[in-house]
Amino acid sequence: MYRRLIAPGALAVSLMLAIPASADGYSPGAPGIGDPYYPVYGNGGYDVAHYGLQLKYQPTTDLLEGTATIRATATQNLSRFDLDFGLTVSEVRVNGAKAAFTTSGDEELEITPARGLPRGAPITVVVKYSGTPSDVELFGFTSWMRTPDGGIGANEPESAAWWFPSNDHPLDKATYDVSIEVPDGTRALSNGVLTSTTTRHGRTRSTWRSDRPQATYLATLAIGKFDVSTAKTADGLPVVNAYSTDLPAATQDGARASLERTGEVVRFLEGYFGRYPFNAVGGYVPNVTAGFALETQTRPFYSPKFFAKGPNLSVVVHELAHQWYGDSVSVHGWRDIWLNEGFASYAEWLWSEDQGEGTAQELADYVYAQHPADDPFWTVAPGDPGPTHQFDDAVYDRGALALQALRNAIGDHAFFAILKGWPQQHRYGNATVQEFEAYAERVSGQRLGALFDTWLYQPSKPAAPAAQAAGVRAAGTPAKPASWTGMARGHGTR
Ligand code: ARG
Ligand code: ZN
Repeated sequence: MYRRLIAPGALAVSLMLAIPASADGYSPGAPGIGDPYYPVYGNGGYDVAHYGLQLKYQPTTDLLEGTATIRATATQNLSRFDLDFGLTVSEVRVNGAKAAFTTSGDEELEITPARGLPRGAPITVVVKYSGTPSDVELFGFTSWMRTPDGGIGANEPESAAWWFPSNDHPLDKATYDVSIEVPDGTRALSNGVLTSTTTRHGRTRSTWRSDRPQATYLATLAIGKFDVSTAKTADGLPVVNAYSTDLPAATQDGARASLERTGEVVRFLEGYFGRYPFNAVGGYVPNVTAGFALETQTRPFYSPKFFAKGPNLSVVVHELAHQWYGDSVSVHGWRDIWLNEGFASYAEWLWSEDQGEGTAQELADYVYAQHPADDPFWTVAPGDPGPTHQFDDAVYDRGALALQALRNAIGDHAFFAILKGWPQQHRYGNATVQEFEAYAERVSGQRLGALFDTWLYQPSKPAAPAAQAAGVRAAGTPAKPASWTGMARGHGTR
């Protein structure tokens, strides 16, 4: 489902105006959803409501077999439409009838239904497929990461096409049922709540349900030997955490000492961002070599590297903060990435402040001083970094500095009202940086154009804002706050 950025009434009117005089013109849906950073990501012409995935996986051979049932609605009179997908398709049905299909270029599965699909019509697409996800290279990388006993799907800005066909862009969110059969003794995890587990002939099938709108890159699948811990938060939210049994003991300990505090962190973040938006929470730490984490909805993926030297609450705070900033409120287009990374990084600073490990201001001073004016760090504009710099440190660290500058300019009262109001305003939807700027101006009653321009868009080091210094700090290099880990978030090895 995707929400447009105009009121429903206005949408109805604009749709009516767009209807051609003779409504029998059927045309192919666009091969991309219209994101200037990634022109072929997502597709046009339809809007997905639900993905039902029925899967089987063989850890020994890395063979994934599946049937995807996609419920969607045509948003134009459609003669043909695309899904984004990398595995081998054997059959496609649209509304029960076999449909013709071809694969063209990078991850485009072109489907021609037996008859045209009128605008507004419900569409059920069934895709049968199989393949070896880690063999599929799309855009020069694979997102399916093999482990000795299984594999996991987690990446950004895309990861779905390695395991299911989709409209692969955050603008088209949907709900998910993921049912996956693996050999007994192997665990299979996905997003949301585990609704059933059945065992038969040496195979176990687990079914997971994620019942709130979810972007495709936030859908995850983890298969392998895991220790799974379950609990409930004080509010009754089910918690599922999973740890690969193969991790070194020290990493296991560090991971547990961090993820088992998930409920406490959620509670902390609710104080700033409002009520937690989903039906479950948790996280998983598989035995992968990748060095990043990802805010996969309700169940973040964490590289074991984060916990090799002991507990790391910063990364847990970061990925859980994304549940509001990134998952519930998602980017409209990938240029809006600051709305995810700037805020999740700032949440780490709030946690640090609360723990007495350095205030947000101390962290801001430290980051600001770390990068001299000629550091290329300052040439990346967090408000529009470009596709090749989407996950640069600047999007995270300068992104958080921008929020500290905003806090100093408008004061704590307005600043925290904005942090809490924004996820409420756009819950389960999408939003742009520009909308955030307008929202901040509205709530604070101040004109903030110059501030946002300085911190989000200028390719140079901003002059230190005078307000923050105001006789509070001694001159010299700011000390490194205790909470500073210096662990890059965006560029962990794949
Ligand atoms: N959104 C993730 C995070 O901030 C970063 C993902 C970066 N992607 C990658 N393949 N390294 O935690
Ligand atoms: Zn992040």
